Amino acid sequence: MKILVTGAAGFIGANFVYYELGKHDDEIVGLDALTYAGNLETLEVALQNPRFKFVKADITDRTAMDALFAEEKFDVVVNFAAESHVDRSIENPEIFLMTNIIGTQVLMDAAKKYAVGRFHQVSTDEVYGDLPLNRPDLLFTEETPIKTSSPYSSSKASADLLVGAYARTYGFPATISRCSNNYGPYQFPEKLIPLMIANCLANKQLPVYGEGLNVRDWLYVEDHCKAIDLIIRKGKVGEVYNIGGHNEMTNIDIVKLILNALDKPESLITYVTDRKGHDLRYAIDPTKVGKELGWAPETMFADGIKITIEWYLNNRDWWGKIVSGEYTQYYDKMYANR
Ligand code: NAD
Ligand code: TYD
Repeated sequence: MKILVTGAAGFIGANFVYYELGKHDDEIVGLDALTYAGNLETLEVALQNPRFKFVKADITDRTAMDALFAEEKFDVVVNFAAESHVDRSIENPEIFLMTNIIGTQVLMDAAKKYAVGRFHQVSTDEVYGDLPLNRPDLLFTEETPIKTSSPYSSSKASADLLVGAYARTYGFPATISRCSNNYGPYQFPEKLIPLMIANCLANKQLPVYGEGLNVRDWLYVEDHCKAIDLIIRKGKVGEVYNIGGHNEMTNIDIVKLILNALDKPESLITYVTDRKGHDLRYAIDPTKVGKELGWAPETMFADGIKITIEWYLNNRDWWGKIVSGEYTQYYDKMYANR
């Protein structure tokens, strides 16, 4: 089988490339526009594998996508490519609409024209909006209505609706997965967990939004990759699958755990102005993917966070370069005087 993985130089896309290369004998083409979030160094080891090839391209580029699909004749497309950071979407929504919505449409048009057998859209639990903090009994199921909060989640939800429309209107062979927050190696240090690890190691303040009581449902990235792997092979066309490991934690608990693990003082914590429209709580009900595809999370948070912290300690080169480039300007803009 030949699989196109878009967003392959990003956090989850790269982890997925490594998972697939290790698990199956398929050929993988990794595509990425190498935006600020994409890093070809992440794929250094994959690039030595004869079953892997990298293409630098933008998913909104219709001409490039048409030529690529005509040449490669993919069996499966997994679309990870996206603008993915909520805070950036609040500052500048437009690029989110271009990449996340138009990019998905352009990819689907190419997949439809060249009769790709399966198109998998990697979506997010954020399309369901948020849950109240005082109702731990409530979880997102696949039937929960879409009700977004941020420009990011709205763009992801729009893409999901388009994927659904292509499936129904054209019989397009698509599946969608909606996963909770991921953590693990190769995550860009603008996101909560790697940002807190990097700041801790530099003895910098840890900016906690609001009171730090918002809840996220954390899943180790490899467990997400395993679920997508099952969906593209055994999932039913037209279906949506929620993915999550019942691991809800408040932001402040995560931050304290990282401080503890790195033996740093809690005085590094700084409470800063809350994110606009900040979603209170995400929590996934993964019953369907468990029952239909036999998926279950395998890495407990206590183990996953240890592996992750260890990885950032051992790979300072990888993220050291990132936190000294464009990211410095972003960081100063977003966090100075917050
Ligand atoms: P990321 O920002 O680390 O990676 C995204 C990649 O897409 C980057 O390498 C970037 O260069 C590339 N890209 C951006 N615009 C592009 C374009 N126009 N053409 C081609 N490539 C482009 O994001 P991530 O955390 O790896 O997320 C991957 C996918 O998973 C996204 O679709 C995201 O919505 C979804 N998701 C993420 C999480 C999470 O916790 N990180 C949870 C659920 C779903
Ligand atoms: P993030 O990693 O941006 O993921 P998402 O917003 O998609 O869930 O943020 C996770 C949580 O951490 C979210 O509630 C916002 C909070 N947060 C902070 O408190 N401080 C920070 O510097 C960042 C980046 C996030």
